[in-house]
Amino acid sequence: MPSRKIGHPLSSFVFPADFVWGAATSAYQIEGSPLADGAGPSIWDQFTHTPGTIKGGDNGDVACDHYRRFAADVLLMRELGIKSYRFSTAWSRVLPDGTGRPNPRGLGFYSRLVDTLLEHGIAPSLTLYHWDLPAALERRGGWAHADAPKWFAEYAQLMFRTLGDRVPMWATFNEPWVAMDNGYVAGNHAPGRRDWAEAALVSQNLLRAHAAAVAIYRTQWRQQIGLVVNLVPVYPATDLAADRAAANRMDAYLNRHFLDPALLGEFPTELPEMFGKAWPALAEDELAQLRQPIDFVGINYYLRLFVSDASSNGPAASPPRATIVPPPDCRRTALGWEIYSKGLTEILQRMQSRYGDVPLFITENGAAFDDVPLENGSINDVERVEYLKEHLQAAGQALRTGVNLRGYFVWSLLDNFEWHHGYSKRFGIVRVDYPTQRRTPKASARFYADVLRSQGAVVES
Ligand code: FCB
Repeated sequence: MPSRKIGHPLSSFVFPADFVWGAATSAYQIEGSPLADGAGPSIWDQFTHTPGTIKGGDNGDVACDHYRRFAADVLLMRELGIKSYRFSTAWSRVLPDGTGRPNPRGLGFYSRLVDTLLEHGIAPSLTLYHWDLPAALERRGGWAHADAPKWFAEYAQLMFRTLGDRVPMWATFNEPWVAMDNGYVAGNHAPGRRDWAEAALVSQNLLRAHAAAVAIYRTQWRQQIGLVVNLVPVYPATDLAADRAAANRMDAYLNRHFLDPALLGEFPTELPEMFGKAWPALAEDELAQLRQPIDFVGINYYLRLFVSDASSNGPAASPPRATIVPPPDCRRTALGWEIYSKGLTEILQRMQSRYGDVPLFITENGAAFDDVPLENGSINDVERVEYLKEHLQAAGQALRTGVNLRGYFVWSLLDNFEWHHGYSKRFGIVRVDYPTQRRTPKASARFYADVLRSQGAVVES
């Protein structure tokens, strides 16, 4: 493992010279043209075209039109000094039926994107799955189907063969917990179901799919592959034992659910308890298979949660029988998420204490605010600047204590389609005026460019 410079507590802290400074997006949220050039529909195409699912009836048909404007977007990144670009590939662009015949034009798009990034000195960081399962596979049973891990392995192998020599950083899944919980428990994401029994199968199949793809990567490719999870510090709403137990269940369900099997080869014992009969038992060797050595864990950090016990409130809304309660008086983003930067330090430190010295990246961090353009069109998003600064300081704090943190990707490069909130919530450091598709870097983009130029030194002042 390369040696890392750890800032002396009394000296002005500097992020290591090889720290990766990046920006993140995902396919369905920015690309648009979902059916262009022979692509097949995904579950998100279908979901957004189902009335009543998305705020304002929005969909990803146009989004940021990145499919056609990618070259200009890469130039914009170069101007901001971004060193690495985290994006996802849409499975149904490259395999319209999910398996079988590849679509050369879909592969060509990602190949050109990767080449353009490399020409401009920006390292591609590719996520294979950011929630957009091919609709053809959903018809065959989707993630709950026993063959789903095989389908994913076929897709992963196609992408490794096409881009494996040019992409230095791969992630199998983005936030498998959200794919499972929002998609199959809450039902507010595609495919929009509410079925715990199905969610249990999905969760296990996502893990099998992750492990299968990592194993294939190891046969021939030699750079980095990892898993991206969303982590949320969970606190009990009161000191009562029942609330503390609820917080522990929620922590198992949300934070340890995918990392324990992927990194330790075991499930948190709370999971079979909370899913009950719906949770299929795994044989020892199957469990061991889920643990494939990975090169990094990507952490998406946005907020913390307070929960209280919901065991006695009749059928609880989700397996952990914990009710999310509003945080005490606090600052919030436009999504109502508490701004709590200390949670980032905590979660990074906890990663190290629970899972050892696995290299970490913050693969998403950012905030939605109701940006109001000034008369001259500029956007002075001071709250986002403050948010980023605080969170970078929190990341720096973790580094000081010896956490093996290798990089930071801001969410997001562009305002984009924020899932069931449609276009109503803006996360970009660059504004997108949707009717004209004009991009305008916000004050936060200029701030982030300064951070990059100074290797993080400006967040110390
Ligand atoms: C994360 C998602 C990302 C974006 C941010 C705000 O959970 O990975 O696509 O929606 O939240």
